[in-house]
This record gives sequence, structure tokens and C-alpha cells, in this order.
Amino acid sequence: MDRQQEQPLIGESPVFLEVLERVSRVAQLNRPVLVIGERGTGKELIAARIHYLSPRWDRPFVKLNCAALAESLLETELFGHEAGSFTGATRRRLGRFELANEGSLFLDELAVTSDRVQEKVLRVIEYGELERVGGNDTIRTDVRIIGATNEDLPALAEEGKFRADLLDRLAFDVITLPPLRERREDILPLASHFAVKMSGELKLELFAGFSESARDLLLDYAWPGNVRELKNVVERAVYTSLGDDEPISDINFDPFDSPWRPGGAVDADPAGAMGSAPTEAYDFKDYVQNMEIELLQAALKRCRFNQKKTAEFLGMTYHQLRGYLRKYELTDTEEG
Ligand SMILES: Nc1ncnc2c1ncn2[C@@H]1O[C@H](COP(=O)(O)OP(=O)(O)OP(=O)(O)O)[C@@H](O)[C@H]1O
Ligand SMILES: [Mg+2]
Repeated sequence: MDRQQEQPLIGESPVFLEVLERVSRVAQLNRPVLVIGERGTGKELIAARIHYLSPRWDRPFVKLNCAALAESLLETELFGHEAGSFTGATRRRLGRFELANEGSLFLDELAVTSDRVQEKVLRVIEYGELERVGGNDTIRTDVRIIGATNEDLPALAEEGKFRADLLDRLAFDVITLPPLRERREDILPLASHFAVKMSGELKLELFAGFSESARDLLLDYAWPGNVRELKNVVERAVYTSLGDDEPISDINFDPFDSPWRPGGAVDADPAGAMGSAPTEAYDFKDYVQNMEIELLQAALKRCRFNQKKTAEFLGMTYHQLRGYLRKYELTDTEEG
């Protein structure tokens, strides 16, 4: 059995359940499908789910990350090549489209493909036909394409950076995965799942759970790296707490966090910039204002644009914060 076939999809938020329902529906159709979402939202897992729920489930599920290969290599990987088609091509080699025959082909990060490759992919979708690189025979394949990207494909198509005709064909149905911060109900179930698995890997007797403050930290964080980031943070927390039977209370979101981090911690902590006032003459008022704006923005982001939490975080009242946001016209970043 394929590793991904056994991987459970954890989540109980309404938006996630809606996605799963959509996945089971689209899986039945013999049409291309696009899976879109921020990094780490589970696009690859969802693509596998689509394949294994489809009538093609017992045929090959072939994957290719388009961003991992240079254009010419990508072309031979996808379409194969004949013997002698280029130096070093001593034997005929089947491409992923042929290997995926009767099954599904997962094209990851397909926004980066060249026009030439896109044109060939379009032809396979439209006519089920391709030629190997260096070959003249037309080969027929029957492959369902599942594409994934974290880019805005319609915008790229409008700018002429992605073929609009291919996009039309690929986008028979589009599944957009919500970021983790929009489905907070999923955070703790996912965290427990990863913690239990990690405990098993480390041969721990049992997983003692998370303390209340640890749970609050997990729930309040913005998770820019989504489920993958959550998995790493939780696994690190389990590993760090190795040896105590207490619930986990220590959560470290940034493994690079260190006073000795090269390049300084200015980015991670704008307040750090205060230790390094400019040595040249400068406009004090401007400087302080910019600093205030930077600190406000960082705090807002950290508190996921929740103004009440941001005010608390900055040790000011809600009205004081509102005053600052109006002063610097930062109110358009507020939550609706
Ligand atoms: N709902 C879920 N339940 C369990 N594990 C999940 C879920 N969603 C994602 N994961 C796990 O999170 C990690 C990232 O998922 P995946 O690789 O599918 O994301 P992705 O959207 O393809 O990311 P990228 O854009 O970076 O390629 C994987 O380890 C995956 O197993
Ligand atoms: Mg991926």
C-alpha cells in the first residue's frame, strides 16, 4: 500500500469537512482538478486522497514536482525520450505520463512550467496524445491530471505567465485549501495527532498532553507555514520535553531564535532595532514614528489582527491602540 494511502487526514472544522466532501465528489469524475493553497496546507495529501477515492485507485499514482527540474529535464521526465535523443540517452525511457497510464499524475508546483511544457501538457489533456523527446511516434495515454500550486494561476494567466487555455482545461474543478489560521478548530486535533505519532517514534510510554498555556499558544499563533509548521513545532516540543511525564508546556515556534543568530534578530523582532540607533544625523520624529508603525504592524500580525489581543500584547488599552491605528492609517489591516 502506498504510504500516502494510509495517511489520515485530520480536521473537524466546518471548512475542512466541506473540502473533504468536495474531494470525494470531484474524485469520481474523470477530469483534471487543481488543488490550490498556501504552503503546508496539505495539497499533496489531498491530491493522493482524490486519486485513492477515484475509480483509478488501483492504477498508478505518479507524482512529479515541476519546480525541482530544469525545463529540458522536466520535458523528458514528463514525456520520456527515445534512445539517442540526446547525449547520454542510451536507452528509451518512459515519461511520467506513460507510467501513470490509466492512473493519475500529480503535477506539483505547476505554475513554474515553461510555455513549451504547458503546450505539451495541454495536448495530452485534450487528445491523450504525446511524443517522446526525440521520437516521432504518437503515443496514447489515459491519465488524470491533479495539479497543485500555491500561486494565483488566474493572475499569472492574465499577465501572460501561464497559458490561459491550459488553465481552462485544468480548472475543471478547483479545490482551495483554507490556511490553518482560518480553521482553528483543527489546530489541537492536528497537534495531538502529531504529538502521539512522535511519542510513538521516540518509544515514549504515553503522550501526557499539552498544558493549558501551551494549548493557548498553539491556538493563538498565526501558522504562516500551516500544517507542516505545526507538525514541526509539535514534534520539536515532544522531543524537547523528553523525559518528563508532565503535559508539554514549552512551545518553541522558532528554532533559529538565538541571541547569537548571525545577521542579528532585527527581522524577527523589530524592537531589536532599538539597540542600534543610526550613527548618522537623522530625523528623530520620523524615526520614532516609523519604529512605532513597525512595532504596531508586528504586534498586529502576531495577534492575527485581533485588536483586543494586540492592545493587551502591547500593554495599552483598546482605545489607545485604536488611536494609534487611526493616526498611522493602519485600520485597513483590521479584521472585518
Ligand atoms: N489534514 C491533515 N491531516 C494530517 N496531516 C496533514 C494534514 N494536512 C497536512 N498534513 C501534513 O502536513 C505536511 C504538509 O502537507 P503537504 O506536503 O501535503 O502540504 P503542501 O500543501 O503540499 O505544501 P507545499 O506547498 O509546501 O508543497 C505533511 O507532513 C502532511 O502529512
Ligand atoms: Mg506540496
